[in-house]
Amino acid sequence: MNREEYIDKALNQFRELLTEQLERNDRMKNATAPKDFSAVDRIVIGLCGGDGIGPIIMEQAERLVRKVLAEELESGRVILKTIEGLTIENRLAQGKAVPEEVLEQIRACDVLLKGPTTTPKGGTLESANVTLRRELDLYANVRPVQVPEEGIDWIFYRENTEGEYVLGSRGVEVPGELSMDFKVTTECGTRRIAKAAFDYAKANGKTSVAVVTKANIMKKTDGSFTRICHEVAADYPGIEAEDWYIDIMTANLVNRDIRSKFQVFVLPNLYGDIITDEAAEIQGGVGTAGSANMGDQYAMFEAIHGSAPRMIEDGLADYANPSSIFKAAEMMIRHIGFTEKADKLADALQECGEREKKVVVTGFADGATCKEYADYVMSKL
Ligand code: IPM
Ligand code: MG
Repeated sequence: MNREEYIDKALNQFRELLTEQLERNDRMKNATAPKDFSAVDRIVIGLCGGDGIGPIIMEQAERLVRKVLAEELESGRVILKTIEGLTIENRLAQGKAVPEEVLEQIRACDVLLKGPTTTPKGGTLESANVTLRRELDLYANVRPVQVPEEGIDWIFYRENTEGEYVLGSRGVEVPGELSMDFKVTTECGTRRIAKAAFDYAKANGKTSVAVVTKANIMKKTDGSFTRICHEVAADYPGIEAEDWYIDIMTANLVNRDIRSKFQVFVLPNLYGDIITDEAAEIQGGVGTAGSANMGDQYAMFEAIHGSAPRMIEDGLADYANPSSIFKAAEMMIRHIGFTEKADKLADALQECGEREKKVVVTGFADGATCKEYADYVMSKL
């Protein structure tokens, strides 16, 4: 193709993308009311092992959920369903980020507890996470981080369905000349994540929400993200929306003198991805932080980290830290309405991970195994 032909092809593609994204914004305008779990007779939890260390940490997470929700499982109020086929082998064989029959099994659940999945670098296979977040419209990625001895109690509301992620696999390229990706911010998509963050702040007595962007550079997308967050903030008297740029916020999080003053963060997808790994590291490592992907109809709970292929190669898989997926399980149990049980689990996790620390996972053979740590947590329940 010559240059003109590339331009024509890209223009056609851009028209398609723009139309699609406008239609997505339209669909968001007609969103149905969020699911009320107290009105669901039988809550179905899907369990998905994932790749790499996924099945190892998920095996322990399932034991934990079975113990915490023993009564509900016994009475049939909650059922657990194992989801088959969300493995890198099957996804590559089918050439689908999430094969249709897997998606169908997932859609038949109310919530999902999912081990990490592997995403090949390059190629065209999209990340299973990104696909699930989009297909199930899981727009709020909620990531709490706490360091009690320092007074750090952060919660990140990362927009989860837009930004660089939504069209990240559909950029244009003029080979040998240039490549271009697209970033999208919609009015409805931003409003709903902003509302989620401010609702959380209001319900939890927080007084400020940090709106973190790079609006000085990404003027259109981050510019409207900031504007919409401030419009939403106007409905929440007593809660201040504070503007920050992502670069200085990244620095702030390693500044011990000021970091504990931050409470709630709301931010576009990619910045949220990056800064939540930093925040998790401050808490004790990405192996310790849970992650909830919330939509109005579905929610998916997972570890913040990836499938750790290096641990598998090094023969260290059994030493994987299940804390992150345990935290995700706690968030899931809370989300489906069993607050007291979630509180009890949260307390056991804190006791084991922060206060008593009698069994410690290091990720190496000098530490406890994943199962030993699970036994330790379960002994506190
Ligand atoms: C996360 C992960 C994912 C992301 C990857 C696995 C696609 O890093 O959940 O933060 O980038 O969102
Ligand atoms: Mg990430």
